[in-house]
Amino acid sequence: MSDLMLMASYAALGAAAAGVVGWPAVLLLRRRSLALSLFTVVFVTVLAVAASTIAVAEAMLPGHHDFQVVTIVTCMGSVVSLIVAALLSRQVVAGSRALTRAARTVGSDAGFTAPLGPLSSELSELSAELSATSARLAESRQRERALESSRRELIAWISHDLRTPLAGLRAMAEALEDGVADEPQRYHSRIRTEVDRLTGMVDDLFELSRIQAGALTLSLSRVSVYDLVGDAIAGAYPLARERGVHLVGDRIAPAPVEVDSREITRVLGNLLINAIRSTPVDGTVAVAARQEEAEVVVSVTDGCGGIDEQDLARVFETGWRGGSARTPRKAATAPAGAVQHHGDTGAGLGLAIVRGIVEAHAGHASVHNVHGGCCFEIALPAAMPWA
Ligand SMILES: Nc1ncnc2c1ncn2[C@@H]1O[C@H](COP(=O)(O)OP(=O)(O)O)[C@@H](O)[C@H]1O
Ligand SMILES: [Mg+2]
Repeated sequence: MSDLMLMASYAALGAAAAGVVGWPAVLLLRRRSLALSLFTVVFVTVLAVAASTIAVAEAMLPGHHDFQVVTIVTCMGSVVSLIVAALLSRQVVAGSRALTRAARTVGSDAGFTAPLGPLSSELSELSAELSATSARLAESRQRERALESSRRELIAWISHDLRTPLAGLRAMAEALEDGVADEPQRYHSRIRTEVDRLTGMVDDLFELSRIQAGALTLSLSRVSVYDLVGDAIAGAYPLARERGVHLVGDRIAPAPVEVDSREITRVLGNLLINAIRSTPVDGTVAVAARQEEAEVVVSVTDGCGGIDEQDLARVFETGWRGGSARTPRKAATAPAGAVQHHGDTGAGLGLAIVRGIVEAHAGHASVHNVHGGCCFEIALPAAMPWA
């Protein structure tokens, strides 16, 4: 066997001996600290190199001075390598501990505080991910708080809106009971109107809660938007006449849509009632429908004089009423007299219902100001022509 082969065999034997000891150790330490595993890997490597070097030197230079030199140099190199490995392991441990401490701040009110020291690229990536998660968490908590406070606000408004007509009803009932009502017939009709209004409000609340709970089940059918708008105009006509408002609907494309007719009729009814009640006597409310590529857009334009720019974004909010001091309404407590309009009696739920129903149809509702008024639009997906 040549010298070279002999040396290779000795080196292999020495390295194998170190490997036999080291490999089980590496396996055993898999679930322990990363730093310990790192150090063990370096230790096994150093041991393998040192063992094979010393084995070869022992075979080639037995008892020779050079053997001692090789041994000392190998040992020195090994020691330095182990010190460097220990320092590296410490650094890894320090980085991961700092990140663990920082991870505890995820979701705290102050937000995620990234570790100060330098981190390896993997840990930096993890830190960035934690920071993004923390931001998302804060955002959703903020949303939840806003939702909670708007829910509380809505309950307060609704209670107020219910209490006022109830007080009026009570007063009228007592007047009738005591026989002090000079025109009992008018009181009866006022009571009836108030009860209708309360029924409408409870109806709206129920509809809104179904929408918000995702419990709105649509029974879709293919209808012409022409028929839907026609029905809604017919329904709103008496109110328009009573208010002296012109209701026109002469630009209605007969486009097909696949919708729940009952719900969309409710949407159009809400939009028309709002528009009529916001338009002064002799003003005009115009309904139009046009097809735009894959959408059918129905618009209701009134003569309200425009909505404040900062209010435009809020009109679809649940419970929002324009310029609404939620003050007791004269209607409920005043002596019977003035004509009651359904449109005057909302609790700010009408447009929230509009948006909810339209979005449940995968459409969208919007509003913008036009000359002399505003224009509410609902866009519904057009039905396929061959369907
Ligand atoms: N066509 C419209 N023109 C002007 N303002 C409108 C119109 N429709 C709605 N608004 C404003 O938006 C508010 C919210 O409307 P809505 O949700 O239907 O509630 P409500 O009718 O009970 O007040 C109204 O109080 C009104 O100020
Ligand atoms: Mg309304």
